[in-house]
Amino acid sequence: MLLHPIAHERHPAMKHRSASLSLSAPVFLAAILVAASLACGNLSAAAEPPAPIVLTGADRRSAISLDGPWGAIVDPYFSGLFSFHHEEKKDGWFLNRKAKPGDPFPTEYNFATAAKLKVPADWNSQRASLLYYEGPVWYERDFTYAPRPHTRVFLHVGAANYRSWFWVNGKKVCEHEGGFTSFNCEITDAVHKGGNFVVAAVDSTRLEDGVPGLETDWWNYGGLHRSVSLIEVPEAFIDQYDLHLRRGDGSVIEGWVHVLGGQPGASVTVAIPALHAKAFATLGDDERAAIHMPVTNLERWSPQTPKLYNVLIHAGQDNIDDLIGFRTIETRGTEILLNGKPIFLRGIDIQGEAPYRLGRANTAKDADILLGWAKELGCNFVRLAHYPHDETMLRAADRMGLLVWSENPVYWALDFDNPKVLAKAERQLDEEIGTSRNHPAIILWSMANETPATPARTQFIETLAARARQLDPTRLITAALLVRDEGNTRIIDDPLGKILDVIGFNEYIGWYEGTPASADTTQWRVAYQKPLIVSEFGGAAKAGLHGTPETRWTEEYQAAIYRHQLPMLDRMTQLRGMSPWILMDFRSPNRPLADIQDEFNRKGLISDQGQKKLAFMVLQKAYRNKTVGKPN
Ligand code: GCU
Repeated sequence: MLLHPIAHERHPAMKHRSASLSLSAPVFLAAILVAASLACGNLSAAAEPPAPIVLTGADRRSAISLDGPWGAIVDPYFSGLFSFHHEEKKDGWFLNRKAKPGDPFPTEYNFATAAKLKVPADWNSQRASLLYYEGPVWYERDFTYAPRPHTRVFLHVGAANYRSWFWVNGKKVCEHEGGFTSFNCEITDAVHKGGNFVVAAVDSTRLEDGVPGLETDWWNYGGLHRSVSLIEVPEAFIDQYDLHLRRGDGSVIEGWVHVLGGQPGASVTVAIPALHAKAFATLGDDERAAIHMPVTNLERWSPQTPKLYNVLIHAGQDNIDDLIGFRTIETRGTEILLNGKPIFLRGIDIQGEAPYRLGRANTAKDADILLGWAKELGCNFVRLAHYPHDETMLRAADRMGLLVWSENPVYWALDFDNPKVLAKAERQLDEEIGTSRNHPAIILWSMANETPATPARTQFIETLAARARQLDPTRLITAALLVRDEGNTRIIDDPLGKILDVIGFNEYIGWYEGTPASADTTQWRVAYQKPLIVSEFGGAAKAGLHGTPETRWTEEYQAAIYRHQLPMLDRMTQLRGMSPWILMDFRSPNRPLADIQDEFNRKGLISDQGQKKLAFMVLQKAYRNKTVGKPN
């Protein structure tokens, strides 16, 4: 048997060194590589830890919170992980080495005496010295733990932007890439009774092959910006589940429950006490149990009646009590049907920026303020741009009756030819859908925002859309497309439209194109007989700056854009929804205009300090009087 040289996907320097060896005698070469690997320890003959797993409804499980102050060390050169040879250190800062007598070198770091960073929170909004910082930061905290027999324990991370590495008691437990989805690292074999410590390295550096890529119109807030906790589960536990109302008659709740480590034939039950309904099922060889639950007197979830039911899922030693609403969403021709009836989505775009304090939104209070403003505006719909938002936002949307467009951060120009980039986008899609698949509020999975209509891009997103449909056939697939123009005709014919259920499109007539009055004479041509959502329109204004409707940056100019846009949009016979850009001003490094933007995108209808601009009232009146879009 021919032994092939061992190819290590290590740090670039690694590949260079192993590639310099002769390839003339594969067996000899393999022996050399194995010896080198074991000798220097940097080719980590030890296996990498398993990839983190996805947990559906993790926020409904009891957890040991690790939120609060963590010791933090800013490490611009990533010296804590990589040596001056760029080799991954085997004794990096992750060991949190306490100074030992006789140490050959002084220990030149100490998390215990280091300044603290709060978790959950981005670091940029915690320290003036870190506002612009993009790079690695180390976090450490101690915790006590008492292992229980027949129990597995996971480190649950709500989100870490952008790449992250984790060690428990000096043992590496996982790595992750992606700044806006939750993940779970198994630490069962790393924790012990009594005192433990966890170390995290989070690197917010933007990557050319990242998802998103190098360019975004939002602040690159780095760090552990969503909650971190320990979640204990039995040896066989419910990692993912999907329960939804069957389209059509609406008298059956169906779906599946997956039990990681479950035995074929093991029983699973799903019960909804309020409906006196219970389903009994058994696990197949794929550790999955199909659920079929006839129901009567079910009150469907909708913006008017956001009814949520306690759903009790039981499998062996594991139990989950989730709060789920049941509704159906589908299209028929150019209509979007919620519970079988046409609906018009009166919405607004929202970035995950915290009102008032700024930084990443990550608390129930942030969600209640932002979604409370959307309700005050008269919305039944929100587009949570441009990445999956915190579970607190989705729980609030479920509770408040706001339909949600959730978005994978395939934003602007990515390296669409690169299979590694596709794999990263797929991973983030798996985590987004796997975590959030039971929120009734979510009706649309958006694959992308404003991507260039190249063949590579179309292929990339077609692959993502097929994966989303396979993961979740119960929701609609969309994307925010760019629009072409020929004179004063705007054309929606991006080839991506072929594979979408609902066509989103962005246009800025009156701001980036022409004047507000340009909308009065704009014609539209649409290549698809599908429902349309204008997923972005609008313009900027500094709150409190007043002048004539012809003067840019004034509230009057922004209001004029809305006054001219709304009648134009109402003439679009296929329009089934709108989400103007944007609810609240948000930080962006692309917006430096002094005394006006000051590194904020000012297209908000509300300032970051809660000041409502004139355009808020213009849109609110249209939504409340339903003078835009078909009444529903
Ligand atoms: C783009 C993009 C947004 C951006 C907005 C703007 O359409 O999707 O992320 O903030 O326009 O220019 O303000």
